[in-house]
Amino acid sequence: MANKPRALVTRPLFPAARAILDEKFEVEYWTQAERIPRAELLKRVTDKEALVVLLTEKVDDELLATSRKLRIASTVSVGFDNIDVPACTRRKVVATNTPGVLDDTTADFAWTLLMAVARRLVEGDVWMRSGTWPGWDLDQLLGGDIWGKTLGIIGFGRIGRGVARRAQGFQMRLLYHDQARVAPEVERGLHAEFVDLDRLLGESDFISLHVPLLPETRHLLSKDAFGKMKPTAYLINTSRGPVVDEGALVEALEQKQIAGAALDVYEHEPKVHPGLIPRRDVILTPHIASASVETRTKMAVMAATNAVALFEGLRPPNALNAADLGL
Ligand SMILES: NC(=O)c1ccc[n+]([C@@H]2O[C@H](COP(=O)([O-])OP(=O)(O)OC[C@H]3O[C@@H](n4cnc5c(N)ncnc54)[C@H](O)[C@@H]3O)[C@@H](O)[C@H]2O)c1
Repeated sequence: MANKPRALVTRPLFPAARAILDEKFEVEYWTQAERIPRAELLKRVTDKEALVVLLTEKVDDELLATSRKLRIASTVSVGFDNIDVPACTRRKVVATNTPGVLDDTTADFAWTLLMAVARRLVEGDVWMRSGTWPGWDLDQLLGGDIWGKTLGIIGFGRIGRGVARRAQGFQMRLLYHDQARVAPEVERGLHAEFVDLDRLLGESDFISLHVPLLPETRHLLSKDAFGKMKPTAYLINTSRGPVVDEGALVEALEQKQIAGAALDVYEHEPKVHPGLIPRRDVILTPHIASASVETRTKMAVMAATNAVALFEGLRPPNALNAADLGL
């Protein structure tokens, strides 16, 4: 039997994804509990033709320079800010991600955060467990209404539109901002109005972020943006941490420029800005917006399928640089 191509996979993934990879490749899985150290990644990738990574591993020029046999880098995430796609293209390495399979799960979670922060769910839970709740009273844990309010969505792609669909059931007014306007029938279907960023910031009661991390979206929400928001507004971030200037967010909360924030992602993961930790007007979750059994399995299977496709002479279905590589 001819030798199989060699692959490095930085997590054991799930059985369904391993079955796909194991059939095609001779696979080395990183199985230790801690994430693969960078030096170990660079060492192990040198003789591999395929690499499957998580968003915590960077595929950059340094890595590509040490892995001259590499033909594909497949990330188990839709966001691909961990992959230097132009560098991959220069070295004729296909880069792939996992779009589409996590839209509704991630939108569900953005909605979970929106409701939880507005209705002070976590504070209520902590109170009940403390054994100090004295019983019902009229003015306990008053939050903000959700129904009938204005939701501003920044980044109206797959997930942003998923959040917009959920807003329909809450009779919300919907504003969106994106670098590109969607088709009129999509706007009509979602009752969504395209506005510039300033108007969205000034009129929204809830702002939910769904842009990819790019040079242009880094610190999209900074001191200036918080200054334009309503003092009753809540920020929800399930996109990428650096889209928000965390220091400016802490300042805005301290100065009551906004009412609260619910964050699933952080500027310097796994660190969290120390100013956020003690705040009761903030909900913090550990980057789990796509973390359902079904969706994480689909993502892993998709990443495995992308890697295998190339070695079957096919164009990987989610190749990010297909056109540039002439695939
Ligand atoms: N927290 C999580 O676990 C989690 C899960 C899934 C996705 N994400 C993040 O969510 C992001 C969005 O995912 P998606 O599948 O909806 O992507 P998408 O490509 O479908 O949508 C992104 C939208 O952002 C818009 N955009 C890009 N640059 C912009 C700019 N400068 N200003 C305004 N709009 C801009 C694009 O035009 C597009 O409509 C991913 O890139 C990823 O980083 C996070």
